Amino acid sequence: MNQLFYGDNLDVLREHIAENAVDLIYLDPPFQSNKDYNILFSEQDGTRAAAQIKAFGDTWKWDIASAEIFAETVDRGGQVSVAMQAFRTLLGGSDMLAYLSMMAPHLVELQRVLKPTDSIYLHCDPTASHYLKILMDSVFGPGNFRNEIIWHYRKWPAGKYTFQRNHDVIFFYSNSDTKDRTFNQLYMERAASTLKRFGTAKIVSGHDEYGNRVPSETLEEDSEGVRMDDVWDIGRVPPIKQLYPTQKPLPLLERILEASSNKDQVVLDPFCGCGTAIVAAQGLGRHWIGIDITHLAVGLIKHRLQGAFLGKAAYEVTGEPVSLPDAQKLAADDKYQFEAWALGLVGARTNDKKKGADKGIDGRLFFHDERDASATKRIILSVKGGSIPANHMRELRGVIDREEAEIGVLLTLQKPTKPMRHEAADAGFYDSPWGSRHPRLQILTIEELLGGSRIDYPRTNANSTFKKADKYSDAPVENLEFKFDSQIDEETDTESEPPSNW
Ligand SMILES: C[S@@+](CC[C@H](N)C(=O)[O-])C[C@H]1O[C@@H](n2cnc3c(N)ncnc32)[C@H](O)[C@@H]1O
Repeated sequence: MNQLFYGDNLDVLREHIAENAVDLIYLDPPFQSNKDYNILFSEQDGTRAAAQIKAFGDTWKWDIASAEIFAETVDRGGQVSVAMQAFRTLLGGSDMLAYLSMMAPHLVELQRVLKPTDSIYLHCDPTASHYLKILMDSVFGPGNFRNEIIWHYRKWPAGKYTFQRNHDVIFFYSNSDTKDRTFNQLYMERAASTLKRFGTAKIVSGHDEYGNRVPSETLEEDSEGVRMDDVWDIGRVPPIKQLYPTQKPLPLLERILEASSNKDQVVLDPFCGCGTAIVAAQGLGRHWIGIDITHLAVGLIKHRLQGAFLGKAAYEVTGEPVSLPDAQKLAADDKYQFEAWALGLVGARTNDKKKGADKGIDGRLFFHDERDASATKRIILSVKGGSIPANHMRELRGVIDREEAEIGVLLTLQKPTKPMRHEAADAGFYDSPWGSRHPRLQILTIEELLGGSRIDYPRTNANSTFKKADKYSDAPVENLEFKFDSQIDEETDTESEPPSNW
């Protein structure tokens, strides 16, 4: 059974994934290659980083916690221990060392779960790739290094005093040097000059200066092209179309899966984000395991799979709250995660908190109930995991008016009081052009949501304005019209440094 885990992947790997259980691993871990490179090497003041990596905390700050992880890895012994000690000498107690200390035990666990005959692809960017390659050598063995793949893309030009930073690095290692490992040779088109000279005929002997075969003879049958090289030109997902910051393009993941896995094999993505590797695995008939530490990502993957495979993707979700006490615990542990999870229950996404004008709005949901596809209607959501101020419903009503939204909803862990219910009842109705009537101000408790209740609004199954799902289906993905507004425009597209990997 395919599995989607919410949680820290190190815990999930240790508790749930057996040795030699996986045929292919792709990992795209978070990386703070931010505007200021020094952030990785200096003591962070925390402000900017905290806002951006809130979802998974200060993972790579050099502090007591990372020093402990560092010590654990050193104590394990072996080549990883040697590599980490060398990094300590080189980098001192810096944030880069903290990052590498975080990565080391992950790689050790991934090596354990990967079958000896199979492969791992580590996606990173040039900020840390040189250190990560040494770490990969220490875990998988330098002899098992297969390729350094350069994923080249184009983006909006920025930064006048350097060449454009338009590539990521993907390290491909196998888990042993056996010749039996899964590898399906892929081909790319011949160069224009080769095509001009030889057409598409198969060339059967001889070598030119590049090591390509040249004709002593050409065959009638068509050649499959030239063997794929390690520089891949694949367009990135344009920011406006991203469901998630750092979303990778589906063709990139499909290429990796097609090369290093076969049908019915198991693909693992331990940092799966919005689930590009999972969608590729599902589409190509592989089994899959995805892990992410944010409810935002897990909720999004569920919507993406639903949209792309119309309910046909079967999988189990582990680690999400399924009862009221679970939800209470999540709210007490981390109010942002609680908020993202609660919004995920109704198919909404977190609102960007940085925008002052959006005060009082935790999430948004869109719907269309008119023939004119451009008439997008809005639902404003407020989430409360703790006590609710007495005037909250009045304020929410004010927000709906201010935003000219059709419906406002409070999602709450606590039961609403009578005055709150009255306030909601007094807010009237939204009358859809379809003739249906829906309360303008609604309250849903988490208990009700867990019991299957949903927001009362005009629903549609097919509407051309909804963002289309991945190529596996033409079906619309309802309510995926969100984007991480400011992050995308300011930071991913026009930034002078490489796109931040969170
Ligand atoms: C760069 S994104 C992956 C993007 C993904 N490749 C895609 O196409 O959407 C990294 C992801 O790792 C997750 N993450 C970070 N630390 C984690 C951990 N310890 N365990 C599980 N997931 C983690 C983050 O929540 C984030 O979604």
